[in-house]
Parts: sequence; structure tokens; C-alpha cells
Amino acid sequence: MPFLLESLAQLFTVQTWAAAAKTADALHAAAAGAVHETTNPFALEEEQVPPPPALDILLGKTEAASTSNTASLLASVYRELDWYRSGRAQSGFYAQIVGPGSRYHHAHARVGLFMLPANYLYPDHQHAADEIYVVVAGNADWSLARQPFVTMNPGDTIEIPSMTVHAMRTRTGPALMLWSWTGDISLGTYRFTD
Ligand SMILES: [Fe+2]
Repeated sequence: MPFLLESLAQLFTVQTWAAAAKTADALHAAAAGAVHETTNPFALEEEQVPPPPALDILLGKTEAASTSNTASLLASVYRELDWYRSGRAQSGFYAQIVGPGSRYHHAHARVGLFMLPANYLYPDHQHAADEIYVVVAGNADWSLARQPFVTMNPGDTIEIPSMTVHAMRTRTGPALMLWSWTGDISLGTYRFTD
């Protein structure tokens, strides 16, 4: 698994935003650290679930050069990750790999995977953490600051500064993203903004 963390770090090292450098640093530190018992990373009523089986198909399909190595690596390890059904996006699934309460502990960053099913809207919301998404497989649309949705494909990066209102949606197929939170990663500011 440390190899996975180093591989994920590379996807952030090539980005220029300061939040990306913090994410890469957190992944390096986590890879060098000890493995911990996991707890529910968001301490909500979210339910631990089996690894989403659709990931096999999704990860087998990606062809973007920048993320194909990540996709094949994830195809071999996603069953070992701790998956939860997201209470905020009822049909979404996430696995926090690095962060408070995760197998790879880090007090100031969260890094994980997020999978949205087809035909899903995760509505406008905001939080204090700086957030980065890297699309790994499938595609999804993002709206930042209530602007029109823009489609993102494997290898694309979405930078969401602290407190920016944002939403995402899928259309005909599911999408798998790598995500990170840095800065203020507490949960107290998270809210939907309808
Ligand atoms: Fe977010």
C-alpha cells in the first residue's frame, strides 16, 4: 500500500496549487508512517459497505495516460480499502486512505477515493477545507461558484478553494475520483447551500 500512496502523490506533485503540494506531502508522510486501526473517518451515521463491485469495470476502462497507472494500481487494491456509503450523497461511496482515523494517519490532510453512480447530482455545498479532485475513471461534471457545469475526464484536476460553493453530477455512467482536503479539514463548516 505505501507504493499506492507514492503513486497517488505523483498525481499531486505535478500540480501547481499550494493545496496540491500539501496533499503530496501528506501522502509521502503517510507512506513513511505506521499503519493504524481505522475508524469511521467522518464520525457520522455513515455505513461501512463492501467495496463497490462496479469499480472493476470502471477501472478497466480508463485510457488516460496520466491516470492509467493509478487506475490499474487501484484495481488491484480497492478491495482492501475501507469503504463507506456517503451520508451526504446517498448513493455515493468513499474510502478515506489518509487522514484522521484512517489506516494511514494524518492529522492535517484527508486523501481518498470517491465514487458517484450514474445519473447522480451531488448538490451545491461548501466547506473550509481546500479540496482537489483528480478524475481517475469515467467522467463527471463540476460546477464551482454556481457557474455552469463543466465536464471533466480521466486525468483532469478540479481545484476548489476553501468555502467555494460546488456541485458535481454524473450522467450516463459512474465516475471515480481521487480527492484531497487540506487546510482546515474539520467538519464543522460543511453545509449544503441551496
Ligand atoms: Fe467538496
